[in-house]
Amino acid sequence: MAYAAGVDVGSTQTKAVVIDEDRRIVGRALVDTGANVVAAAQHAFDDALQDGGLDEKEVEYVIGTGYGRYRVTFGNEQVTEISCHGRGAVQMFPNTRTVIDMGGQDTKAIKVSPQGEIVDFCMNDKCAAGTGRFLGAAATALEMPLSELGPKALESKRPVRISTTCTVFAESEVLSWLGKGKKIEDILWGVHQSIASRSVALLRRVGLEAEITFTGGVTKNVGMIKAIEERLEAKLNVNPEDGHYIGALGAAIFALDHILASRQPRKTVETAS
Ligand SMILES: Nc1ncnc2c1ncn2[C@@H]1O[C@H](COP(=O)(O)OP(=O)(O)OP(=O)(O)O)[C@@H](O)[C@H]1O
Ligand SMILES: [Mg+2]
Repeated sequence: MAYAAGVDVGSTQTKAVVIDEDRRIVGRALVDTGANVVAAAQHAFDDALQDGGLDEKEVEYVIGTGYGRYRVTFGNEQVTEISCHGRGAVQMFPNTRTVIDMGGQDTKAIKVSPQGEIVDFCMNDKCAAGTGRFLGAAATALEMPLSELGPKALESKRPVRISTTCTVFAESEVLSWLGKGKKIEDILWGVHQSIASRSVALLRRVGLEAEITFTGGVTKNVGMIKAIEERLEAKLNVNPEDGHYIGALGAAIFALDHILASRQPRKTVETAS
């Protein structure tokens, strides 16, 4: 049995996935990327091997993806995160035609073919207002862990309308609403709605074709799933257990493709005698 791996070195967190020849996930791991990107990639890969009870030698091909993909020093090849999220999303939800990836720094909308190939994509250019960074700014202002933001936001009865479009000012707007006596859950739901509205605008730019699959670390945030679904007036494909690993899964599938293709007997050119 051969194994393939994908290592997705994101700006915030690094994810590694090891799959078997049947594309089943046999090991996976997540670490903070931090300042030492090379070490984070190695660390995530080692942890994923340990998770699967595997030795490094059993993994035939490794593909690096994410912003730090060239820092996967033990990798055999690099593939962009756009391609990997598309491929991983179609693997997990075969009817996917549109992908929204929300990570720590960027939000990406991706349109895919039934085979998981990229047809078009769009990113939040230089503005972080519709990204996980905006959530991070709100978490800092409210002194709350990121994992509590979504559940708290869902308690809201009268959401506040967040007017700032800039992450730099998000923290001060949150603080100013607190100063006016607004409830934390109402401020937070306003923050989620603001991010959802920008993400859906990004999705519309590539074209909203069902089914829509949500990927990246923000899939762990139940509030963001609900806010996007309300804005879209449609259900998302989302798997909060595995959604964070979809980019790394896509990379691992590309790695498996390489292993299987290299086993094909070479075509010989027949010449007429
Ligand atoms: N338990 C959690 N609850 C809520 N949100 C979470 C949780 N864990 C991670 N996140 C969110 O996921 C983000 C990281 O997601 P991800 O790993 O997809 O980003 P990345 O790939 O490093 O970033 P990018 O793709 O922008 O370079 C965090 O910044 C946070 O907003
Ligand atoms: Mg990412």
